[in-house]
Amino acid sequence: MIEKGKVSQEPFLGILKILEEAESLNLVDWNAMNIATVDDNGQPSSRVVLLKKISDEGLVFYTNYNSKKGMEINSNNKVAINFWWRELKKQIRIEGVISKAPEKDSDDYFNSRPLKSRISAIISNQSSVINSYEDLKKDIDEFLKKHDESAVKRPKHCGLYVLAPISVEFWQERQNRTHERIKYFLKDHTWDSCLLSP
Ligand SMILES: Cc1cc2nc3c(=O)[nH]c(=O)nc-3n(C[C@H](O)[C@H](O)[C@H](O)COP(=O)(O)O)c2cc1C
Repeated sequence: MIEKGKVSQEPFLGILKILEEAESLNLVDWNAMNIATVDDNGQPSSRVVLLKKISDEGLVFYTNYNSKKGMEINSNNKVAINFWWRELKKQIRIEGVISKAPEKDSDDYFNSRPLKSRISAIISNQSSVINSYEDLKKDIDEFLKKHDESAVKRPKHCGLYVLAPISVEFWQERQNRTHERIKYFLKDHTWDSCLLSP
């Protein structure tokens, strides 16, 4: 389940339609997407995150703002996202700019997570070097012993990001490499589209 805000225009309607198709088929991690960021040396890196919400404003996911991706987004908020569903023979490629979601949205999302996930988010400095996973588990258990649930508040470095697309490409596999590619792009703040050769 992902949250749906107001989705009234292409290409967001198209993205939502495919997500709903993938969800209805119970595909594993149907809302998983690869997100690529670039560091200060121009070196790209990518990783999978889960889409949490879609609306005309963009695509929302949750992470640690101090992680590698978070630090890279801090200095360069241009990112690329890729979805692929083998069973649907579909790919969606998105490029855009990213910003932090309003604090209240991040609080609401954080508070909706299971207790241990919330504590893990507080304890874990995502992407930092650690000595062992045993220590991490111990720290989580220690936290649980020392604090009650009311102390489990969202740390400021965990929250939602909103990716506002500037281009969205729908790729559909067809026979004999006649794959269809429809690219939407923002032109003077309005969505335009074109077909691309496979
Ligand atoms: C299926 C799947 C879903 C994931 N979902 C998230 C997610 O929603 N948020 C997140 O921060 N990391 C998620 N991860 C972990 C990331 O891929 C990555 O390891 C982590 O965010 C650290 O990335 P970074 O060091 O590049 O910042 C997920 C991994 C997988 C395989």
